[in-house]
Amino acid sequence: MRQPLLTSTASYQALQTHALDAKQWQMRDLFAQDPQRFERLSADAAGLFLDYSKNRLDGRTLALLANLARERGVERLRDAMFAGEKINLTEHRAVLHTALRAPKDKQITVDGQDITHDVHAVLERIRTFSDAVRSGQWRGHTGREITDIVNIGIGGSDLGPKMVCLALRQFAHPRLTMHFVSNVDGHDMDAALSRVNPETTLFIIASKTFTTAETMMNANTARSWFLKHASAQSGEQALAKHFVAVSTNVEAIKKFGIDPDNMFPFWDWVGGRYSVWSAIGLPVALCVGYGYFADFLAGAHALDEHFRTAPIEQNLPMILALVGFWNREFLGCPSVSIAPYHQDLNRFPAYLQQLDMESNGKRVTRAGDIITDYETGPVIWGDVGTNGQHAYFQLLHQGTDVTPIDFIAALRPAHEFLNHHAALLANCFAQSEAFMKGKMADEVRLDLAGQGGENSAAEIERLVPHKTFPGNRPSNTILMEYLTPATLGALIALYEHKTFVQGALWDVNSFDQWGVELGKVLAKKIEAELNGASHPEQHDGSTNGLIARAKAAI
Ligand code: F6P
Repeated sequence: MRQPLLTSTASYQALQTHALDAKQWQMRDLFAQDPQRFERLSADAAGLFLDYSKNRLDGRTLALLANLARERGVERLRDAMFAGEKINLTEHRAVLHTALRAPKDKQITVDGQDITHDVHAVLERIRTFSDAVRSGQWRGHTGREITDIVNIGIGGSDLGPKMVCLALRQFAHPRLTMHFVSNVDGHDMDAALSRVNPETTLFIIASKTFTTAETMMNANTARSWFLKHASAQSGEQALAKHFVAVSTNVEAIKKFGIDPDNMFPFWDWVGGRYSVWSAIGLPVALCVGYGYFADFLAGAHALDEHFRTAPIEQNLPMILALVGFWNREFLGCPSVSIAPYHQDLNRFPAYLQQLDMESNGKRVTRAGDIITDYETGPVIWGDVGTNGQHAYFQLLHQGTDVTPIDFIAALRPAHEFLNHHAALLANCFAQSEAFMKGKMADEVRLDLAGQGGENSAAEIERLVPHKTFPGNRPSNTILMEYLTPATLGALIALYEHKTFVQGALWDVNSFDQWGVELGKVLAKKIEAELNGASHPEQHDGSTNGLIARAKAAI
């Protein structure tokens, strides 16, 4: 059904008028005027605390944003998603990653099929298999225990398990080393294979479709490498001890030569970038054990329940989405930087990049109308603190674009170097303070004048603009007590639902990704041309030139 255009709604227009005032506000003043601002503009759920007080908004802004969410039917769409309605309109699919973390007794059906039962049947298989590998009961073809696991997948079949295994390294099995090969660049495969022994390595071929070109090429290479290096007597038979698959495509797996008993299925109602909760999370269960994998799912489920039931004004994903929408739509911020102040979350920004940009990087509404008068998904990027501070934070503090930042930190570390943790948190909090407050010209003047009279008046005036920080730059801070499987699960679910809410506000389909297709088709053509299997077609001058150069070098 065609929604009224976002910009034509009464609540959007009320926000536009309100933004004319809000653009003049200084957050310093907002804090000075309201001593309760932090208490008022913070909330918590499922082990996560969100401080959104360092944004250029007030209670009225939030009330107007909540009105917009109601007018846009965000709650209705949320309920439709949880109920398994086919809200992925271009692929006619339900969107039920939440069902993957729902408890056994929660009945959810798709096309008349009880999917909770199916989900838990696969979870049981994940438990049995991961227990067997971890305990050493599952052995390689020469009888040796598995020491290395190589996950071969890309996009959602790589980023989620890789990010989670890194984030939960404190819980990892000491015998198992995890490797992730995603890139079609042979250097990626070479780096992994040069570190593993075929007798003690388990390969997981992870692909929802089992047709993704990069994954298929990597899987075939791994297979050939294994057969070449496996002990001569066992050959093909040995494969069963070393190759398992995760996919929705049983036929393709059989064709590849993997025993369907070694296949862990999932379903088309799980989007690739939402699939770490499915059998795509098998590397996580192998790495940290099924118990912690179950805690990870439970943490996400707790956040799901909060998202499903809490009123908009106290609902963490709704708030995070509305604040982000405000910054994007009304304050003109083109990107969002993710700054986890936790080394183990170093792949979290890359994970969120796919989650958010593949979901909301869209230019047509759900009805197919081209969006011309508002912006949709921002660019998502970032790196861990404190590293970013010594690299790109300069632009964030003094550049001409305003980039909202999400700071993420655990209050307690999982190590004993407490002085490091105090320094880390001090930096995290100092940065959000600096972005909010800035340093005004008068403060700079005072500082320079106070430096023992070493600066002349003229020199002070010359330096003032360079040393001034405009401040008034928005940020959120998300805190948890420890980074655990449960809090990590909740954190990911928080961002999944944030992405969902923003997609609903923009009226885009957050669950397809047609924008990745064109490049895939052209790459196939050019690959054949580079291999000499077909004659170079007429491309544009640049592409022809590049192909010619590569052909001359190959
Ligand atoms: O090309 C994009 C994409 O389809 C992502 O959405 C997906 O996560 C990734 O490729 C991998 O897909 P598959 O799991 O089917 O190999």
